[in-house]
Amino acid sequence: MNQPPVIEIKNVSYRYDRDNVLENIQLSVPKGAFLGLVGPNGSGKSTLLKLILGLLKVKEGEVFLFGTPQKSFKNWDRIGFVSQKANSFNTGFPATVYEVVASGLTKKLGLFRRPGSKEKQAIKAAVEAVGMEAFLTRNIGELSGGQQQRIFIARAIVSKPDILILDEPTVGVDSKNVESFYNMLAYLNQQMGITLLLVTHDIGIISDKVTHVACLNKYLHFHGSMQQFETLDEEDLSDLYGHGIHLLDHHHEHQGADV
Ligand SMILES: Nc1ncnc2c1ncn2[C@@H]1O[C@H](COP(=O)(O)OP(=O)(O)O)[C@@H](O)[C@H]1O
Ligand SMILES: [Mg+2]
Repeated sequence: MNQPPVIEIKNVSYRYDRDNVLENIQLSVPKGAFLGLVGPNGSGKSTLLKLILGLLKVKEGEVFLFGTPQKSFKNWDRIGFVSQKANSFNTGFPATVYEVVASGLTKKLGLFRRPGSKEKQAIKAAVEAVGMEAFLTRNIGELSGGQQQRIFIARAIVSKPDILILDEPTVGVDSKNVESFYNMLAYLNQQMGITLLLVTHDIGIISDKVTHVACLNKYLHFHGSMQQFETLDEEDLSDLYGHGIHLLDHHHEHQGADV
């Protein structure tokens, strides 16, 4: 039980040019958690993810991944990432669902080796986990925004990471499919044991699925369990960090899983 947090951020500040966009951030993500990271536009959410992933260099403070200082961390396939940009994927791209998901194994396979039976099994399992097994041979460009996003998640989990990091994944998802999309994420967390770090504006819709919440606006204004978060009222929250999260559909009617 005494495992180090999957992610631990200590005293991290960051600036691109003059002013800090993140200030003295302390955040830890325990194994098995489903952490919802919320904050208004421009509050530093994507910057924080890029620092965790090593896409930006940590200059002030420290990041630990699975207890290892990020600077000496090598097991990057333990961390899956679906970037905000996945939403603007070129839909004319000629690749099948199978090929897109297989590309998530490139690091393991090398660019030119074809998947063997073990890899094929992993590709099928990843596509099933996101509820898209009926689309394996379809062209990615023929799918809806939400279906494409599921495929990018399959690509991110095909190498069996311990944690999956998602930056506003529902931006291209049709509003009527958002709930089932989040049910799929809850399935990855609860049934497959993948730790999740999700940047979202829909904290109200997923309040029954996330275990922890962090509220960012340059400073980390709140970080705690969902139970603690629920004791805050709207006024506390807007005092804390302004607007930009939706609490109103807190007790949103449950539609049931359809993963
Ligand atoms: N590459 C960059 N160069 C300079 N400033 C940036 C860059 N990327 C983001 N910023 C600024 O940093 C702040 C935080 O941005 P970001 O992390 O993208 O916020 P969020 O994801 O919460 O919307 C914003 O003020 C943004 O304009
Ligand atoms: Mg962002």
